[in-house]
Amino acid sequence: MWTNLVSNNYQVKLLSTIENKETLDIMSKNRIYIFDTTLRDGEQVPGCQLNTKEKVTIARALEQLGVDVIEAGFPVSSPGDFKSVQEICKAVKEPIVCALTRAKVVDIDCAAQALHFGKRKRIHTGIGASDIHIEHKLKSTREKVLEQGVAAVKYARKFVDDVEFYAEDAGRADQEYLAKMVEAVISAGATVVNLPDTTGYNLPDMFGAKIKYLMNTVPNIDKAIISIHCHNDLGLATANSMAGLINGARQVEVTINGIGERAGNTSLEEVVMIAKSHPHLNFETNIDTTKLYPMSELVSEMMGMPVQPNKAIVGSNAFAHSSGIHQDGIIKHRENYEIIDPADVGVPKSTIILTARSGRAALRHRLEILGYKFDSDEMEVVYMRFLDMADMKKQIENDDLHELASYREAVAS
Ligand code: KIV
Ligand code: ZN
Repeated sequence: MWTNLVSNNYQVKLLSTIENKETLDIMSKNRIYIFDTTLRDGEQVPGCQLNTKEKVTIARALEQLGVDVIEAGFPVSSPGDFKSVQEICKAVKEPIVCALTRAKVVDIDCAAQALHFGKRKRIHTGIGASDIHIEHKLKSTREKVLEQGVAAVKYARKFVDDVEFYAEDAGRADQEYLAKMVEAVISAGATVVNLPDTTGYNLPDMFGAKIKYLMNTVPNIDKAIISIHCHNDLGLATANSMAGLINGARQVEVTINGIGERAGNTSLEEVVMIAKSHPHLNFETNIDTTKLYPMSELVSEMMGMPVQPNKAIVGSNAFAHSSGIHQDGIIKHRENYEIIDPADVGVPKSTIILTARSGRAALRHRLEILGYKFDSDEMEVVYMRFLDMADMKKQIENDDLHELASYREAVAS
């Protein structure tokens, strides 16, 4: 990224004048662009449709979160989607607003119109690249599809300077054909080339090798940003996205809570926290991670789509500890069982869930928070009563603990 910004000579001169090592480290990081498609791929989920006002609320929150690109919709698909793209263009100023099209004049005309008020705008056009799509969906040939893709990019460039091309089903496409397609659309003016694993078929090493091959083979690859867009059909979307980034992609297409078509897309919060938790990768994003949990709640509430409790980063159990061994460890030192500080992702604190699997340490800890102190003999009695109660109930709440702790008064009277 750094070399994309300044020429090599200038870079050397500038670096030689910088003494502060921390500044130098920041400058040498690889900037990863976060392209959020919650409002387009995410909104394709049955039952998750939003109205324009709700989409604008989410777009504003995404701007605050720090995403680089908001894919606001597919304007030709419905008047409502057209209106939403238009209103989002008026509502946000920092992120690029992007509109999806097929490689068709009618779609591109419509997207250009919907983006009219955008301060920074992008048309995202493309066509199938795998033989399955070419033969059985487009009923065309490799040559004609390539021509149609190139024509779409050239046409979109008449309206905007920033055109992203998607080679749909790149994950299953022949790599030599894909390389030809990538080279041709970059020559035609694509500024970003998206290589989706549309069906979530790849394994991380396969997908990483595909990106590496393109990075090493396509002669003009340095003239565009390479993007990845992975679906989660085999539960590998995040792993495949990371493989793509490690092998040279610099934009990643994601959704909040990983929502999206079928099993969903790569989850924004996972990619961002992987980048943050592994500094050796040298990846940097613009995301304010303390807004991740509130953002997840907003999307879940507005779309009526609950987050699974064990979802990484934002699930209700992501920072909840329930076994006795883990509870004892976390009370002694948080990092014994947590690699992320909950405050870093906007979760108020870790929780200790009291169940029949909890130990004395967790029970004593919670009782002390509630203001009760017991000597060790008393504690033994309370703990036995606690286990009896916990065997009957799934979870012990504070009210139950007040009842348990009152045994002392009961004995005294
Ligand atoms: O999954 C996919 O290939 C897509 C494209 C339209 C970018 O969503
Ligand atoms: Zn998709």
